[in-house]
Amino acid sequence: MSIDFGTDIYEEPIVAKTFLQEDAQEGSLRPKTLREYIGQEKAKGNLAVFIEAAKRRGESLDHVLLHGPPGLGKTTLAGIIAQEMGVNIRITSGPAIEKAGDLAALLTNLTENDILFVDEIHRLNRAVEEILYPAMEDYAIDIIIGKGPSANSIRLDLPHFTLIGATTRSGQLSAPLRDRFGVTLRLELYTAEELCRIVTRSASILGVDIEPDGALEIARRSRGTPRIANRMLRRVRDFAEVRANGVITRAVAHEALRALEIDHLGLDPIDRRMLHAVIENYGGGPVGLETLAATIGEEAVTLEDVYEPYLMQLGFLTRTPRGRCVTRKAYEHLGLSIPAGMSENGEQLRF
Ligand code: ADE
Repeated sequence: MSIDFGTDIYEEPIVAKTFLQEDAQEGSLRPKTLREYIGQEKAKGNLAVFIEAAKRRGESLDHVLLHGPPGLGKTTLAGIIAQEMGVNIRITSGPAIEKAGDLAALLTNLTENDILFVDEIHRLNRAVEEILYPAMEDYAIDIIIGKGPSANSIRLDLPHFTLIGATTRSGQLSAPLRDRFGVTLRLELYTAEELCRIVTRSASILGVDIEPDGALEIARRSRGTPRIANRMLRRVRDFAEVRANGVITRAVAHEALRALEIDHLGLDPIDRRMLHAVIENYGGGPVGLETLAATIGEEAVTLEDVYEPYLMQLGFLTRTPRGRCVTRKAYEHLGLSIPAGMSENGEQLRF
């Protein structure tokens, strides 16, 4: 069956790292308990033990650092930890806490065992970070009162609380901050089978009629990321309702995603531009990240956080000490002939 959906009608790329307008609905799709949460079995298994142990002792959970690519469910997991612990959660982010006083206000308003969730924790400034050290270690903050020679420092006790920090770039965290987290969990890209279960669950919550093959088609193209899978589901639903009979079949998903320029592995136009730029401008690499970003007019952090993890998981791109290289697999995917003398990892063998 062939369905003509016309051309692309959406502005925002489906892989956008930032929160899109449509993600506001994400709340209703978020699992509320560990049981409902699909995938991340290792992180979930460890968390279940730590939560149970803290509850038995009647203590706050140790501070938790969640890291991994965007859209994998770090905020969702923080909400689940709060729910499972039976405590309140306050949600903020590194860039939102501008002054030491902002953080002091947040901390002094917590109650015993509460959770403070700080998204993008690598973006905290130094002055704010220094307030966090005694807060995390001794549950206390030092406040300076007055100025100059008459300034006085007083220590303020805080309730026992749990800091949950989330970051896409754990390498950018300072060592003293990283060392104060008792639990570090790395979230991994999801498998197509896990994403298929997530899409099926989301469709059922949204009241969307979807066939198993339709869910699998979306899952396979969601680059290991639930947020992308849920965005695709909503966009494919629009196509299904307007151009088909409302049911997401494999054919409807296929045609909708083709109209959105997402190929069968989930690569979008920016992924392809990136690979083509390395091949056409730099002979397949190596090329430095900043140079590549300037060539295609994207930000280096966006390429590094959003595009590279999936291209590397597919084995299309490698990071070498001399820069990024495109592999033989990527040439094959793009239908290009492989240059003579190219090694498996994309580096040119020199004779
Ligand atoms: N929705 C988004 N992420 C999910 C997950 N990991 N499990 C279930 N539903 C989800």
